[in-house]
Amino acid sequence: MKGIILAGGEATRLRPLTRVTSKQLLPIYNKPMIMYPLETLLKAEIRDILIIVAPDHAGDFLHLLGSGREFGAKFTYEVQDKPEGLSQAFIIGADFIGHDSVTLILGDNIFEDDFSQPIKSFKSGGQVFAKEVPDPERFGVVKFNEQMKAVTIQEKPQTFLSSYALTGLYIYDNRVVEVSKNVKPSARGELEITDIHNWYLKRGELKVDIVQGEWIDAGTFDSLLKANLLAAKKSKAPLN
Ligand code: G1P
Repeated sequence: MKGIILAGGEATRLRPLTRVTSKQLLPIYNKPMIMYPLETLLKAEIRDILIIVAPDHAGDFLHLLGSGREFGAKFTYEVQDKPEGLSQAFIIGADFIGHDSVTLILGDNIFEDDFSQPIKSFKSGGQVFAKEVPDPERFGVVKFNEQMKAVTIQEKPQTFLSSYALTGLYIYDNRVVEVSKNVKPSARGELEITDIHNWYLKRGELKVDIVQGEWIDAGTFDSLLKANLLAAKKSKAPLN
């Protein structure tokens, strides 16, 4: 199993915080944001990790994380020249993935859960993770039937579909490399990860699990604050 952290994008929504640094390097309590998704992969014993960064602050990621030796891992770096969608991670990462399966995590996603079990026992197909949220229109959304089997997945639906958002952690078998090469840009001009989910869903090969603990996509000022408070609580440090 290979791991990819996607830490690209311009994070214009977080300006001026992101004018001089990258979103994924902003502090979340006592460490830079990217260290949370990195820890999620390391906890699941993924040791071969590709870090995809935007060109602007690429050197800062290298400075922070280095070769990976300090973490008992090996880090590889690639640049995503333009933020053209999450599916692009598998195209940029094609050589790195080789013949393996891959777990992709977004560099701004913070999870409380431990995903060791699903990652270590993964065999084939795809596995994604959903969480009930009050603002599903911000995310990829999954609708379940009565048996909690996924039936429909849509990227940022304009009309209410379900309150289950798909979080930024994805496990796919090696076919994802070829599938991603055939994804066409969406109306917002991005290669959507949702198209990959739907490719596997159509074939009955997509497993959707529910995230039990907290999950935060730290892409807005409010979710950034929430992430800081959660991290502070988790590290049991006093807030004042
Ligand atoms: C992306 C995905 C979306 C997913 C979300 C999780 O959204 O496109 O399906 O629910 O990450 O954080 P974006 O960050 O591109 O708005």
